[in-house]
Amino acid sequence: MITLFENYDQMSEYTASIVAEEITNNPSLRIGLPTGSTPLGMYKNLIQFDLDWSNVKTYNLDEYEGIGENHPQSYHTYMNKNLFLHVNLTKDFINFPDKNTDSTLKRVGGLDLLILGIGHNGHIAFNEPGSSLTSASRRVKLSKQTIEANSRFFDSEDEVPKWAFTMGMKTIRESKRIILIANGPDKWDIVDKCFNGGVTKDRPASVLQMHPNIEVFYAS
Ligand code: PGA
Repeated sequence: MITLFENYDQMSEYTASIVAEEITNNPSLRIGLPTGSTPLGMYKNLIQFDLDWSNVKTYNLDEYEGIGENHPQSYHTYMNKNLFLHVNLTKDFINFPDKNTDSTLKRVGGLDLLILGIGHNGHIAFNEPGSSLTSASRRVKLSKQTIEANSRFFDSEDEVPKWAFTMGMKTIRESKRIILIANGPDKWDIVDKCFNGGVTKDRPASVLQMHPNIEVFYAS
């Protein structure tokens, strides 16, 4: 289930090529998208493809609460900068999680493809350790570890939002195809525990072992 890549660039290129292929095969693809440092290479490669995004529907995994959409560290800003402003997406087809996410996705038939990162504590989106493995999309309090990890993007740890809205574990697990990407030696331990160890809500990503169509890409 884990594919090892020699380096980050290779993993990024390959992941982007899969997304491009999916969009080519299904121009109305419903795709779940991550933020963070790991997907940056994938987006960089993806915007080089000549693809028609006009019917693609995007669903971001999470967004902070308490900072506006235009804040430099909001995930809206991240997505505009790294993907949305580079492709011909239809504005109305861009989605960030809110209280309607699950009902909307249910109505349209769920996500066709979901690209995910993983936190050092095994979180996926902002489903922190201890999250129910069947949770709905919801407002969540961020763990101390996540706030510390994300403080590198803010002037100080105090400025990191403490709350966020996240896609839930159930919503994630209902995606038809999932690709989880992880990069760097510091991520190996959690990838190994989540995909070679037991399933536990202390490491939310571990439940993805049970998904029928999951691929894990790891670059050292
Ligand atoms: P990272 O974040 O890609 O910046 O390491 C991953 C995550 O926390 O989901």
